[in-house]
Amino acid sequence: MKGTDLLTISQLTKSEIETLVDYAIKLKTFVIPAEKQRKILDGKTLAMIFEKPSLRTRVSFETGIFRLGGHGIYLGPNDISLGKRESAGDIACTLDRMVDLIMARVFAHDSVVTLAEYAKVPVINGLSDLEHPTQAIADFITIREHKGEYAGKKLVFVGDGNNVAHSLMLFAAKVGMNFTIACPEGYDPMTSVVDDAEKCAEKTGADIVIERDPYDAVEGADVVYTDVWASMGQESESEKRAKIFAPYRVDSKLMAAAKPDAIFMHCLPAHRGSEVTDEVVDSHQSVVFDEAENRLHAQMSIMAQLAGKI
Ligand code: CP
Ligand code: NVA
Repeated sequence: MKGTDLLTISQLTKSEIETLVDYAIKLKTFVIPAEKQRKILDGKTLAMIFEKPSLRTRVSFETGIFRLGGHGIYLGPNDISLGKRESAGDIACTLDRMVDLIMARVFAHDSVVTLAEYAKVPVINGLSDLEHPTQAIADFITIREHKGEYAGKKLVFVGDGNNVAHSLMLFAAKVGMNFTIACPEGYDPMTSVVDDAEKCAEKTGADIVIERDPYDAVEGADVVYTDVWASMGQESESEKRAKIFAPYRVDSKLMAAAKPDAIFMHCLPAHRGSEVTDEVVDSHQSVVFDEAENRLHAQMSIMAQLAGKI
């Protein structure tokens, strides 16, 4: 994967996915000793462009590059004003003269595509309106830790067919995990993403299903996952969406309709009391902070694979 970009889960092969997950676990468990980890990106620099706020993505990338021996530079919305003060192309051509990796969290997916087109160094999508690939990699590390093999297990996403749902659906399809999304009409995942996932699923035997009834959806679920009803940039729709999505709240009653040993997942930040109740986030079934921690190991694996000496 050296020298390539990571813009979507869609672009990854099954074997690349396995390499990313396996390598992250080796870093996490110190099968690769800390001293060796510090040499992987020795003296390298990561530029982190953020058009939107972040806790986990920023801290995991900045800590991750530091642990690999490198250095991260945070470029917030007011620092470079992507596309307003300067075009994405000019930003990419400037940054690649000075840094070794670029990570960007953007509104329009096209912005990260343009950065990747112009930059001679690898570009990583740290969330766009289309996908959140680094989140999905961390989440599937978490699923592996709690559930073992992916094949034949069932992941149910309850809520909006958004960026996070897209990346999870594609990942599941590629590794042979059954994926169901329960969402209201009008909030389905994008058709092109579903088509892509179905094509991958034909090869791996995964089922890709869209349901309206959350109770039907979670039957037999090993993993119940939710995300905010209004993503960053959709704040003006929050009130309208709160009414439409109310039947999709993950509460103890819905969790009880999944397998008894099902885990609860959320990429965070959670809007407690909206898409999920406190009772569920704070329950013994919840692995939300494992997911958050695994963002660090996932980012280290991604950066090492794209720019490292491995
Ligand atoms: N899950 C996630 O991407 O969190 P942040 O928005 O805090 O980075
Ligand atoms: N779907 C959410 C994910 C946040 C990490 C958003 O795009 O705001």
